[in-house]
Amino acid sequence: MSKTFKRTLVTTALPYANGPVHLGHLAGVYLPADIYVRFKRLSGEEIIHIGGSDEHGVPITITADREGITPQDVVDRYHAMNADAFRRCGISFDYYGRTSSPRHHETAKEFFLDIEQKGIFVRKTEKLFFDAKAGRFLSDRYVTGTCPICNNPDANGDQCEQCGTHLSPLELIDPKSKLSDAKPELRETLHWYFPLGRFQPKLEAYVEAHRDSWRQNVVNYSRTWLNQGLADRAITRDLSWGISLPLDEESARGKVLYVWFDAVLGYISFTKEWAELQGDAERWKRYWQDPETRIVNFIGKDNVVFHTLMFPAILMAWNEGRTEGCYELADNVPASEFMNFEGRKFSKSRNYAVYLGEFLDRFPADTLRYSVAMNYPENKDTDFSWSDFQNRTNGELADTLGNFIKRSVDFTNTRFDGEVPADIRLEEWIGLGIDWQETLKKIADAYEGFHFREAASLTMEVARFANRFLTDAEPWKAIKVDREAAAHTMSVSLNLCHALSLLFYPVIPETCNRIHDMLGFEGTIDTLIQPGVQVWESAAFPGLKKGHRLKGSSEILFSKIEQKDLEPELEKIAKLLAEAERREAGAVGQKMTFKPEISFDDFLKVDLRVAKVLECEPVKKASKLLKMKLQVGSEERQVLSGIAEHYKPEEMVGKQVMLVANLAERKIRGEVSQGMILAVENSDGKLFVVEPQGENIIGNSVQ
Ligand code: 2FM
Ligand code: ZN
Repeated sequence: MSKTFKRTLVTTALPYANGPVHLGHLAGVYLPADIYVRFKRLSGEEIIHIGGSDEHGVPITITADREGITPQDVVDRYHAMNADAFRRCGISFDYYGRTSSPRHHETAKEFFLDIEQKGIFVRKTEKLFFDAKAGRFLSDRYVTGTCPICNNPDANGDQCEQCGTHLSPLELIDPKSKLSDAKPELRETLHWYFPLGRFQPKLEAYVEAHRDSWRQNVVNYSRTWLNQGLADRAITRDLSWGISLPLDEESARGKVLYVWFDAVLGYISFTKEWAELQGDAERWKRYWQDPETRIVNFIGKDNVVFHTLMFPAILMAWNEGRTEGCYELADNVPASEFMNFEGRKFSKSRNYAVYLGEFLDRFPADTLRYSVAMNYPENKDTDFSWSDFQNRTNGELADTLGNFIKRSVDFTNTRFDGEVPADIRLEEWIGLGIDWQETLKKIADAYEGFHFREAASLTMEVARFANRFLTDAEPWKAIKVDREAAAHTMSVSLNLCHALSLLFYPVIPETCNRIHDMLGFEGTIDTLIQPGVQVWESAAFPGLKKGHRLKGSSEILFSKIEQKDLEPELEKIAKLLAEAERREAGAVGQKMTFKPEISFDDFLKVDLRVAKVLECEPVKKASKLLKMKLQVGSEERQVLSGIAEHYKPEEMVGKQVMLVANLAERKIRGEVSQGMILAVENSDGKLFVVEPQGENIIGNSVQ
């Protein structure tokens, strides 16, 4: 039996305030959350939607350094920009906060101190890179060097973008500081670690209790981490930007909370700020500390473990030893897959993106909301393309929904003096050929199950039904011979307009408010919404009575998108795609940069051999690595390679690969690697292992 709740708290992942949000963000997190929240509000449920900006973290200081401005300037700019873009897109947050706020700093410090005082954190001294010239410890992203897996000379300290391997700065060959030309030196520093392993049994129980109600990807990601055994995670950093450690001791100086420790707590501090604005400062507790509240965290798939393991573990640590003031854990964490754009991944760093604000400068929010909802990446990656956007806008929104509403309203205005000409009895309404109760239930179930594409397309089916009804009934002919029949048709049509305005409200709210207005109602649908008032279900009944006056005028709900409207977009995309293709072909617009020249003798030092993969398996706690046993002539070698996201172990077995056979032996994640296999990356970041073709070549050298 699933649990019943009295109210819902929806949170959406806090986007970093270091760049504009793009359509990928909208599709995965904010639009689905808004649709869900609007549906629940329309159903009279008590629900709030809390979001905001993640204003800490290294990405922000890196942007500030790059642009020569302060981190505060960066977050001020992008917080305002993103809040505005969301508002224009109709994302109806009850509160949109900032993690730089005093209340948030206070909340995060309170959590830190509570866990510190319980003696749960583990302090560890470790050696980290220090830039003596800049006088700063270098967090992972501030160190660059050569990747030990693929030899990319520009790998970051946390990850190599070329082969995707997660790294620690200490693993880089020839590490450099991004802050100065000083050679980074290792210095000892103390850090606070959160012992996730201490909560392993409780976290396992939490995940297993939800294995049937959470999406499969969420359960699987969480299980993979749990199966590897949860390790201690550092929750402090040597940085100046962030929430400083609330400890009055020398060892805490210059340290801030790790951004992920603070960001998830933002959901709580923003609910507190929301409550204060409501004039009831304690009201946040009703959402966080009452088992009758259902908490739902909307996120993208890259944030899963922070929400299913890290955040719950922080709350479990807080709850430890308490009988009052305990936090509830999320009941669901709907994590989306990714929505791509014209067949490729959105990439902020490559500027391959459509930013929300820019999109809304050109096209109305509801056309975007509908198209994105119809491409919601629920279980697999989906694709947003301009042609799909155009087809949906023109064919579904304009020709079907918009056309039906306008024909109904215009005909009534001109031929029936703008009044609903007849009453529709319930039996007639039910006999129309649409099972209202069943249809509403199906759509509601789709919303409740986070199946937003299904909900939007079922709703469009109702619009298609309505459009067909009016076309088939031909009131423009009937009125010449049987005014009563035409009056009946128009009354049914107007009631269908009313039903559609309610059914479509979660997806295209602004349009539905305009339909509501054309139908002659005061205010907007938003103003009908109140906890306890069932507006949604009134769509199942003929709500317009004979004599009800329409507004008297109509408007075009959706303008069609002409090819010429899309030309600038298509040109832009063609340019971006061409750039990507040039990159793929190795003919990048800018000058190619090669490694420094080597002599022929140097080249001859590299012993490249053909090898055969005999065995292949994943590496514990290294989700990007595969461990392989290779046959090289009569020898066997163990080699680690950062290709786990691109090849399944079983796909590798039997392959002929290119091995750098005389590379010095190295230890990666505690495992010995005796050489390196060659792979190339395409512009989407996919890796392809180099596979020499030919028979009887195993062990032979390459010439
Ligand atoms: O991945 C990100 O963009 C993070 N800023 C998400 C934080 S989600 C939550 F913790 F707020
Ligand atoms: Zn690499």
